[in-house]
Amino acid sequence: MRGWIYRKRESKGIVFLMLRDSSGVAQCVIKEGVKDFPEAQRVPVESSVIIEGAVRADKRAPGGYEVDIASFKVAGKAEKYPIGKDVSPEFLLDVRHLAIRDPRMAAIFRIRSEVFGAIHEHFRSQGFYEIQSPSITGAACEGGSTLFPIKYFGEKAFLTQSWQLYAEAMIASLEKIYCIAPSFRAERSRTRRHLAEYWHAEAEAAWVQHDENMGIQESLVGHIIERVAERRAADLAVVGRDPKELLKMKPPFKRVTYEKAFQMLEEDGVQMDWKAEFGAEHERILSNHFSKPFFITEFPAGAKAFYMKVKPSNHEVMLCDDMIAPEGFGELIGGSERETNVEVLKKMLRAQGNKSCKAYEWYFDTRRYGSVPHSGFGMGVERIVMWLCKLDHIRDAIAFPRMMNRLYP
Ligand code: 4AD
Repeated sequence: MRGWIYRKRESKGIVFLMLRDSSGVAQCVIKEGVKDFPEAQRVPVESSVIIEGAVRADKRAPGGYEVDIASFKVAGKAEKYPIGKDVSPEFLLDVRHLAIRDPRMAAIFRIRSEVFGAIHEHFRSQGFYEIQSPSITGAACEGGSTLFPIKYFGEKAFLTQSWQLYAEAMIASLEKIYCIAPSFRAERSRTRRHLAEYWHAEAEAAWVQHDENMGIQESLVGHIIERVAERRAADLAVVGRDPKELLKMKPPFKRVTYEKAFQMLEEDGVQMDWKAEFGAEHERILSNHFSKPFFITEFPAGAKAFYMKVKPSNHEVMLCDDMIAPEGFGELIGGSERETNVEVLKKMLRAQGNKSCKAYEWYFDTRRYGSVPHSGFGMGVERIVMWLCKLDHIRDAIAFPRMMNRLYP
């Protein structure tokens, strides 16, 4: 076995070593008399080692097995490990490059890897092509307030907030597409669910309208739940999530309009302005009414992004949805049917403060040459990992989180 010494303890001629590798932690023992015993006594925690020995069942050992070490070699001797008594969140973020070795973090990363695999598996099985789009862009997709500006050969450019505008162009080539890529948001607020760089799983499909779009979203989340529950049960146990509990949250998911959600909040004694976005607290209160993820649909016109289609039978609302996780974890997905009329798009852009729509001229071409009804959505991968793993903070859903005031390591 090759791995790292996670914990170590010695008693009466025996050294107990908890050996950690990518699959988990195993208890190994070396007894006085074995040639390498003195080496094992001296080895500091987090050293990397190579051991040989015999595995035997032992009910007292974590996992039910123990390894009797016959040979013990140090591959890389560790210096005094800085993570010990001080486990304050700020300190652990300072030494994040080491803290990610923790078995609990490793369990989260294996679950995260499963989520990525499940997203690819699901979209490909449904006939979606994977495409890539630029991270450097000239125009905002989700409004200007959270853009990261960058210098681009003397011009002003931005890190992308979403692939969407490019996706809407690509559907005229491939019809059903998806991608998983980083999105960037210059979030100034310090919340438990916002990162400055997050992984965004997005899909866009031609000929798909609002209702069908929500169906695609719920089947994606259903597939992720199933795969994670089935393949990562042991890791879920480490983070305190029962796979059976997750399997109860499979689709169909309930759909409530913004108006209905607004009324539910009022009945719960919450005061808010009509048209205001629901914040974390609103979503938490609403989620008490549901035992599974649920959709909030038809937000008031103008309350969200410029590209959302206005409902033909009621111009007061848009054909959009947010999927909200239960148990107070908040928004997982934002999606909508897309507006196809160039004049309406321009009007919405101007209403949101874009005096000139020049940067969007190429995007309007997607409507000018053979426009079709189409819809899409974006899911924050860290958001769903956070919910599946019941994490207190989104930063633990990603190895090296980028947040306000945190660029190192
Ligand atoms: O609702 P949003 O802003 O929608 C879009 O970007 C659309 N263009 C997507 C599309 O239709 N193709 O973001 C989508 C999702 C949110 O529901 C949330 O899960 C996640 O992205 N998200 C964040 N995750 C972590 N940190 C942040 N700062 C996030 N902002 C959004």
